[in-house]
Amino acid sequence: MNDRLRPSVLATSWLGHELRALDDTASTNAALAQWAVEGAPHGSTLIAARQHGGRGRQGRHWSSPPGNLYVSWLLRPRRAMAEMAPLSLVTGLSVATALRDGLGLTAAGLKWPNDVWIGTRKVAGVLLESRVHPSPTIVVGLGLNLRTPTGGWSGELAGRATALDEHGLEIEPAQALELLLPQAERDIERFEAAGLAEFTDELHALSVLDGRRVHVLEAQREEDVDVIAIAEDGGLRVRSSEGRERVLYAGEVHLGGMRS
Ligand code: BTN
Repeated sequence: MNDRLRPSVLATSWLGHELRALDDTASTNAALAQWAVEGAPHGSTLIAARQHGGRGRQGRHWSSPPGNLYVSWLLRPRRAMAEMAPLSLVTGLSVATALRDGLGLTAAGLKWPNDVWIGTRKVAGVLLESRVHPSPTIVVGLGLNLRTPTGGWSGELAGRATALDEHGLEIEPAQALELLLPQAERDIERFEAAGLAEFTDELHALSVLDGRRVHVLEAQREEDVDVIAIAEDGGLRVRSSEGRERVLYAGEVHLGGMRS
């Protein structure tokens, strides 16, 4: 247990009301999935000071030293699971909105599908993991960089990642949670009530890829395309150099050849 990770005030109706705060765990997503099997209610939240097996998208490792935010929350969705996929996009949007509105980081935006960037550097990543059995659950995992690693970003993160301290903000994980959970709760409720259409304006305003040329890496091909906008169903509408339009649902999209 680590009580320093607990927000002093939590302005939510249900999200984070059941809260476990751990010093160390392999992955908050994995620990919360186990808690879900044991009966954790909708909105249960698990935060850790560090992770020794942090999971990223596409099977990647998420480096998780102390000082950053590693948190997961549990949803027991009321909508059919198939309709919940855009929630990953909505989660990235919630984080970007909280950074902009709560901390004045006007350069924060959403990088499709669910990263949060400040300018052109990644500050947060989202990993949703869902299960249908024994009952439908979605674990929403968020890693938010609060502190730059000693010695700076290395390897593939060099020049591609950022943390809030690089923007003059010294934020503790508990404060970050206090800021993020109310926004996430509002957005989950809006999404469950009205779907992604409810977020059209915010998606357009905060999508950092709109109008940019990106490199797309898919299972069978790679190409440079121009991003038009996030589509109504949460895919990414792009135009090839021959003028063909299509919507991407999977694969990796790198701005200017960057990995994100
Ligand atoms: C990405 O690859 O961008 C997604 C990274 C998600 C990392 C967070 S940290 C908290 C939660 N627990 C995990 O093991 N992963 C997510």
